[in-house]
Amino acid sequence: MAATTLVILGASGDLTKRLLMPALYRLHALGLTPDLRIVGYAMESWSREHFERHIQKALQDFAPDYSASQWNRFRRQLDYVGGELKADQLSALKDRLSPATLFYLALPPPLFGVAATALGEAGVAKSPRNGWRRLVVEKPFGTDLASAEALRTQMHAHWEEEQILRIDHFLGKETTQNLMVFRFANRFIEPIWNAQHIAQVQITYAETLGVEKRAAYYDKAGALRDMLQNHLMQLFSLTAMAPLAEWDAEVLRNHKVEVLRSVVPITAATIDSHAVRGQYRAGQLGRKKLIGYRSEPGIARGSRTETFAALRLEIDNWRWRGVPFYLRSGKRLASNYSEIAVQFREVPGALPKAVHAGNNWMIFRIRPVEQMDLLVTAKRPGLELAGRPVVLTAPYASPDHREFSAYEQLLMDAFEGDRTHFLRFDEVEWAWRLLMPVLDAWQSGTPDFYAAGSEGPTSQKRLLDAGHAWRSIA
Ligand code: BG6
Repeated sequence: MAATTLVILGASGDLTKRLLMPALYRLHALGLTPDLRIVGYAMESWSREHFERHIQKALQDFAPDYSASQWNRFRRQLDYVGGELKADQLSALKDRLSPATLFYLALPPPLFGVAATALGEAGVAKSPRNGWRRLVVEKPFGTDLASAEALRTQMHAHWEEEQILRIDHFLGKETTQNLMVFRFANRFIEPIWNAQHIAQVQITYAETLGVEKRAAYYDKAGALRDMLQNHLMQLFSLTAMAPLAEWDAEVLRNHKVEVLRSVVPITAATIDSHAVRGQYRAGQLGRKKLIGYRSEPGIARGSRTETFAALRLEIDNWRWRGVPFYLRSGKRLASNYSEIAVQFREVPGALPKAVHAGNNWMIFRIRPVEQMDLLVTAKRPGLELAGRPVVLTAPYASPDHREFSAYEQLLMDAFEGDRTHFLRFDEVEWAWRLLMPVLDAWQSGTPDFYAAGSEGPTSQKRLLDAGHAWRSIA
């Protein structure tokens, strides 16, 4: 019997093929999961050999370092059971489980609750005395506050909160994890990480992708649910949270929730100055002509779903009062450009114009490259005493250290039971609480149009304080 068993429910699906298996394959190749058994579970009544062929094909397509010899070692970890999400059929898994077993719900979101219940009824959710059971589930967690709470209740019927690992894959990204290290392991950051020194924060996740083949999901979700409620809210709370007194998953999550709880609620009266939505229409990216959202296959011709969302959030606490946090994300924008950009306030005193070359910025870049940039002013070489902007850059990657994908990171954490980079339910809940008034207001009206390949709707400007400008994503 393997030391650890990972059961993937939804093993014939896309997530398994594109992301989970390539990550598991790499971890195995690096010798990090020597004693793991992977049991695929799905509706198809496949043989183990058929499953192996399916996964081999997936790895040939999606694992960059695929090799026949490595595959021959990896395949020995695989097993398959066919069945529906029903307790009596899931019971067939029982004699394949190790004392340490992880269930991964690689399923469409409407099935999360069903699967969690059926596993519970099959009697596999209770941790054995000599081991553990964990349940991994990936966003979206509900489609609004009520459905998220209903899902929580359904899951908690058979699973303890501590057993549930909610994935937001942004928490597995190197740059996200670096935020904590950089903020708290450098002496000079904390004293200036507050409203006295910081003027504004911009968190941008811009994508050139359109809806791809996800029309059915995306047209119901939209950018606010798809990106802001989870990924950007996480980047926001990690940027704004107070330093940890103890390096502990519960303390960390308490701090993140504190941030969300301190956000000034957006109301029907303030929505126009705090939220903007957009939808792409036909446009162009380089030489490529792009169709509008409403002409994409599977999208309703009159769809009002937003493909761009921007928010202005204000935190009413001692650290942040008076600092706007601008968050935005959209599809079919000018480039794949993502960052957390922190602008510092002007220096005091009347510096001669020639000397002052602009405010300082600290930028955590996620795309196109992961790196940190600190924008400072330094003397311009020459006889005059004049300043010029200089960028101090630290590329994130280093030849001495291996990088891991978000799924590789999070799978390892899940095996080890480290909950630091998973969401506790109250984080999900508070993010929904903040956004419900926006979602409610957006049930009527229409998004502002922007040309595909542009920087988003011009109306996003109305969220900004005087003197602030959106950073360019082109
Ligand atoms: C997903 C969203 O959660 O994150 C997608 O559903 C988005 O719409 C994706 O494209 C972005 O993440 P990454 O890591 O692929 O850039």
